[in-house]
Amino acid sequence: MSAVLDPVSVLSDRVNAMAESATLAMTKKARELAAQGVKVISLSIGEPDFPTPQHIKDAAKKAIDDNFTQYTPVSGIADLRSAIAEKLRRDNNLDWKPENIVVSTGAKQSLTNVLLALLNPGDEVIIFSPYWVSYSEMVVLAEGKPVLVTGSLENDFKVTAEEFEAAITPRTKLVMFSSPCNPTGSVFTEEELRKIGQVVERHENIFVMADEIYEYIVFEGKNFSIGSIPSIKDRVITVNGCSKGYAMTGWRLGYIAAAKWIADACDKIQGQVTSGTCSITQKAAVAALTGPLDDTRKMAEAYRRRRDLVIAGLREIPGLKISVPQGAFYAFPDMSYYFGKSDGTNKINNADDLAMYLLNVGHVATVSGAAFGAPNCIRLSTAASDENLTEAINRIKTALGNLK
Ligand SMILES: Cc1ncc(COP(=O)(O)O)c(C=O)c1O
Repeated sequence: MSAVLDPVSVLSDRVNAMAESATLAMTKKARELAAQGVKVISLSIGEPDFPTPQHIKDAAKKAIDDNFTQYTPVSGIADLRSAIAEKLRRDNNLDWKPENIVVSTGAKQSLTNVLLALLNPGDEVIIFSPYWVSYSEMVVLAEGKPVLVTGSLENDFKVTAEEFEAAITPRTKLVMFSSPCNPTGSVFTEEELRKIGQVVERHENIFVMADEIYEYIVFEGKNFSIGSIPSIKDRVITVNGCSKGYAMTGWRLGYIAAAKWIADACDKIQGQVTSGTCSITQKAAVAALTGPLDDTRKMAEAYRRRRDLVIAGLREIPGLKISVPQGAFYAFPDMSYYFGKSDGTNKINNADDLAMYLLNVGHVATVSGAAFGAPNCIRLSTAASDENLTEAINRIKTALGNLK
């Protein structure tokens, strides 16, 4: 009989140091409950509930029929990299050539490539918090040290330039954030980003990773790209992709635009790990990036309507503190008023307990803010139908009403 194996002692320190994705874990629990016949409303996953626009699907079908099915260059096919360069000029005031662009299997891979390319063990990465769950784990994977700098609810969770500068040390290599932000829905204004840019300008060894994957889902004005500030352009890595703006999560396409030596390093890493992303997806992405944005705009309009619906509903629930999201498709209320309360069976000590209570009792799947660096909050995705959102808010209201 062989000895019982202890996986933790065999697995690498690298993987043992990583946390499981909280959003995926919650989705899994919700599925388990649904399999038992419970009608769960899932507001836990960050995924558009719209189909991919028709002209994009048509381009993919054509790519298959044209037998466009072989390996592509690691950084992406020439017409896609040109289309991205053109899009960055059109939408973001960013002037990059195709050689500055690396296409990957999702923005997730783009972010990881950059971290693996830039970080040495112990290098500090300032992450504006609340932050997307994967950021800190990606930094850990690349053997860097995540340094969380937290924005206050009163400032819509946005970190100020002063707060950012106070966290800089001689080991700081990079600052990373998403705007529009997952999980808060906050959007930095041009003025705020220019101030952050001034800090970066003063600290010449610091790089910026600007994750703009939600750029088209902005409810007022337009997304501003920090990489368009000429004095720091070469130190800003702009990350984007097709998942959110074109409802293409399953297609897996992200990209970076950066100084050529950074793009080359990402190409080198990706070339040994995954190679170029799916050839068919790349043709679909050309259609997405060069085609009309009507569907994208319609989706953004629906997210705005749902934001209004959810915020109005949450405002009727006693005790919640709410910042009104300016973009993306999340609401992120502070629920700490309910900590310490109980329905007689379930005692709520923190946001993890509350998210579990809302799932088990209210049958609404949300995600605890703890995983996003905000232990008083929970995240609700508003990428669901109006009916489901209305029903979910009613269920949450009832479940919270039973906590005394
Ligand atoms: C802020 C942020 N960046 C990146 C991603 C990953 O995008 P992709 O599907 O392109 O890997 C997500 C997905 O949820 C996200 O919320």
